[in-house]
Amino acid sequence: MSLFIKNVELKTNVILAPMAGYSDFAFRKMCSDFGAGLTVTEMISSSALHYNNKKTIDLLHSLDGENPKAIQIFGHSPEIMAEAVKNPVLDKFDIIDINMGCPARKIVSNGDGSALLKDISLAKEIISACVNATSKPITVKFRIGYTDDNIVAVEFAKMCEEAGVSAITVHGRTTSQGYSGDVNYDVIRQVKESVSIPVFANGDCRSKEDLDRILEITKADGVMVGRGAIGNPEIFSELCFNEKKEVDKLSQIKKHYSLVEEFYGENYTVKYMRSHLAYYLSGQYKNTQALVKLLKMEKISEIFDYLNKIM
Ligand SMILES: Cc1cc2nc3c(=O)[nH]c(=O)nc-3n(C[C@H](O)[C@H](O)[C@H](O)COP(=O)(O)O)c2cc1C
Repeated sequence: MSLFIKNVELKTNVILAPMAGYSDFAFRKMCSDFGAGLTVTEMISSSALHYNNKKTIDLLHSLDGENPKAIQIFGHSPEIMAEAVKNPVLDKFDIIDINMGCPARKIVSNGDGSALLKDISLAKEIISACVNATSKPITVKFRIGYTDDNIVAVEFAKMCEEAGVSAITVHGRTTSQGYSGDVNYDVIRQVKESVSIPVFANGDCRSKEDLDRILEITKADGVMVGRGAIGNPEIFSELCFNEKKEVDKLSQIKKHYSLVEEFYGENYTVKYMRSHLAYYLSGQYKNTQALVKLLKMEKISEIFDYLNKIM
């Protein structure tokens, strides 16, 4: 059955999460090719867009075939967020997602991300300003609450729907939990029962068994996958089509490096790809000593030669 976010049809109902420091254009394209129903950029600062910051604009780079795709923006000023939504650099994106779930201190202390869970009326103003600024679907990603004793997910979801949001993603943790501890799928189910727009469940989906269990408990329309896809973009083939793909990891790593290098050049690529490499070399390729050596290398040719030897 096809799933739409407003007028945008998703390829499948398992979508890629926005992840700062990981969701580069090459990674997103690989996930999209393996079946991710939607890809999302990492969170983009609305004020950086206001100043046309070059590094920020680079984060919006994309390759042909990454479809459909969303950009995620964050901020706390309704005016600047609405201005960001209208910025022509966003034209190529099908959907605009608003981050109301980031728990990082530097984000929250600025009133951005999950700080908005504590100010639902400001969150609504921001959302309404964005919805009124574009005909594109606006979606919101948020957590179930700031702290355990203040779970606001249902109220927040209803507010989003009222304000004209086309779909929501709920990460089933609170801000205080960060990225660990149990995911509360029951609250996600309560959210699903309280709104009519599509709901995506998020948190700890790393296998087909996880996916089936999450959909069974939450009754969500789809699931968003984050960490399970890092170093493992082929997970979407298993999750979306029940087809476990045996991929040539070495070629996958080289392709990722080469695509990033074509756009950013060698120096940046070597540094940027270190965190991806650590994930690629986890699991069956776990080799800590090799990783320590690789992380010190400065040339892509040197990294490839070494990978050729150990993989
Ligand atoms: C390294 C990292 C960066 C992240 N960056 C973002 C981000 O930019 N925007 C966002 O909404 N969530 C971000 N998240 C949260 C994920 O999108 C997701 O909600 C969370 O990791 C839970 O899903 P998972 O268990 O499938 O990873 C990030 C998570 C990680 C681990």
